[in-house]
Amino acid sequence: MKVLVATQKPFAAVAVKGIKDILEAAGHEVVLFEKYEAQADLVKAVADAEAMIIRSDKVTAEVIAAAPKLKIVVRAGAGYDNVDLEAATKAGVVVMNTPGQNSNAVAELAIAMMIFMARTQFTPATGSEIQGKTLGIQAFGNVGRLVGAKAKALGMKVKALDPFLTDEQILAGGAEPVHTLDELYEGSDYLSLHIPALPSTIGSINYDLITKMPKGATLVNTARKEVIDEAGLEKALEDRADLKYVTDVAPDNLAALQEKFGLRVFATPKKMGAQTAEANINAGLAAARQIVDFALTGNTKFQVNK
Ligand code: 3PG
Repeated sequence: MKVLVATQKPFAAVAVKGIKDILEAAGHEVVLFEKYEAQADLVKAVADAEAMIIRSDKVTAEVIAAAPKLKIVVRAGAGYDNVDLEAATKAGVVVMNTPGQNSNAVAELAIAMMIFMARTQFTPATGSEIQGKTLGIQAFGNVGRLVGAKAKALGMKVKALDPFLTDEQILAGGAEPVHTLDELYEGSDYLSLHIPALPSTIGSINYDLITKMPKGATLVNTARKEVIDEAGLEKALEDRADLKYVTDVAPDNLAALQEKFGLRVFATPKKMGAQTAEANINAGLAAARQIVDFALTGNTKFQVNK
């Protein structure tokens, strides 16, 4: 198959080599399409692609319609909100992700962000320590569990809310189960978001929830910017001069937030949670292997549009 590796934010060179080696050894052709500027360029590039490996690249209905030979898209990563699943399913295109492969990188960033904010963005101002504080984790999946384990090792108390898990499963993951959002937000000095962007979660982190957090609390978002109600966040930061917000990928109102709230807000310039060589290798190579296996045996284990 002709496999298009379409990555606006490229993988590390070592991961690209690994992807090529795996696919070419199995007789596939690899076309690299990195750092493209416009979505229209992606639409042109997919004309003869039979398979795609992507990251946060947007595989819209337009992209799918422009790729008549496309059989499979593998999102090298966890979240697949960037793929139009309905359009893919209609066109008979299999969509997969590579769950867990880049989770450690994201979890490390969440921990780093907590410390960065506790230490007032590494300015000389007197900071605080995360040891002894309570971390609330919203969604206890691959990333959430790793954040919890690392936080515990740093002496934090860890609570988690996940409607898809039993108390036993949350306890087995090393966190204290919490059953309502109110309880989670009210009890968390740090609240780390690990929910996907779905119609039910988009804009769900709102003023009411954010202002439930205790004095001096920090909201940490390494999930998706879309889950935040940005106007609600801005008002919460206005009304509560003790709250902080740190996020991997800038909200639309970042300039206003930074101007108004200074060191209480920090956003990475580009989504970088999964931007480590290790995560690129893990997710990229897994994606390549999944394509090889799909072509050879029809394996659809990681298909998300079944
Ligand atoms: C994911 O969903 O896997 C992460 O958000 C990483 O996204 P990225 O591959 O664009 O860095």
